[in-house]
Amino acid sequence: MKSFPKAVFPALCALLLTAVLSGCSGGDKRTVRIGHNQAADHPTNLALLAFEEYIEGALGDKYDVEVYPSELLGSQTDMVQLTQTGAIDFCVASNSILETFSRNYTLFNLPYLFVSSEAYHQAMDDPDITGPIFESTRQAGFQAVTWIDAGTRNFYTVDTPIESPADLKGLKIRVQQSPTNVAMMSLLGGSATPMGFGEVYTALQSKVIDGAENNELALTSNGHGDVCKFYSYDMHQMIPDILIGNCDFLDNLSPEDRGVFEEGFRLVNSVEREEWGKAVEAAKERAANQQGVTFLYPEVQPFQDICTPMHQDLIAANPDLTPIYEGIQQWNAACGS
Ligand code: GCU
Repeated sequence: MKSFPKAVFPALCALLLTAVLSGCSGGDKRTVRIGHNQAADHPTNLALLAFEEYIEGALGDKYDVEVYPSELLGSQTDMVQLTQTGAIDFCVASNSILETFSRNYTLFNLPYLFVSSEAYHQAMDDPDITGPIFESTRQAGFQAVTWIDAGTRNFYTVDTPIESPADLKGLKIRVQQSPTNVAMMSLLGGSATPMGFGEVYTALQSKVIDGAENNELALTSNGHGDVCKFYSYDMHQMIPDILIGNCDFLDNLSPEDRGVFEEGFRLVNSVEREEWGKAVEAAKERAANQQGVTFLYPEVQPFQDICTPMHQDLIAANPDLTPIYEGIQQWNAACGS
């Protein structure tokens, strides 16, 4: 996916601001704007289109929902800030970047936190685990309304097969803009290069970086597999995306309307999860057969052994997160690997 040209962004913002200040898109309807950074055929966009259809089906006389994909409203960090101020109402942000808004979010960014996809899904569906985290940015003006599956993150490189942590040594690897991801990369021996998602394709192509780490859809939906020929399943993180909403908007909904929106948030989660499995299979197929990407399955334990001390470091620095961390371990024990 290409980033929106920076020169155009201020103009877009000005346009958006005019629209926001003018209040409505037509008649007395309230326009509800949602931004995200994925392409139009990505599961996230499909889920938000289902949300749009649902809200407009139930409350179409009051709300006009508009979904802006592909970083049309800026990078994720830009969009979180627009949601904070209420310039837009919702956006999808990776859990990674939310750690700079509330340290509670750091927990879900830990490498090897969940032992399996099942444990990850169960924990993320458990309100005792997500509740205190999702609420923790209210003082910053926004809160999480649901989570979105973004699969498992793995390393991929232009031309170096990653079979063990030693292979990362000296490589410049793009990571998300989060202190946890920078720390993880440093422990694993690579040189962490934080940047926004939309800049990664060009950075790979111009060899500013040697590789990146992400789920399989980055290879196809974002074209990274045109440049990177090795994708290595070290399974280091399962980092959710989070749909966040402006608190003033949410708090001012009538109880009836809020109920409909809450149902819409549940729909976002379920539609995206349904689409996710199919999308990953299709991405692997396309990456292997059309882009010539080789998928590698290294031994995970050596990567995990290096990263696991980060868990204790986080808990030692944030003892109040202990009950949530332990709740996640209970799901790990219940689900197994
Ligand atoms: C995934 C995730 C995005 C995130 C991106 C990234 O695609 O779904 O929310 O922005 O990774 O690495 O930045």
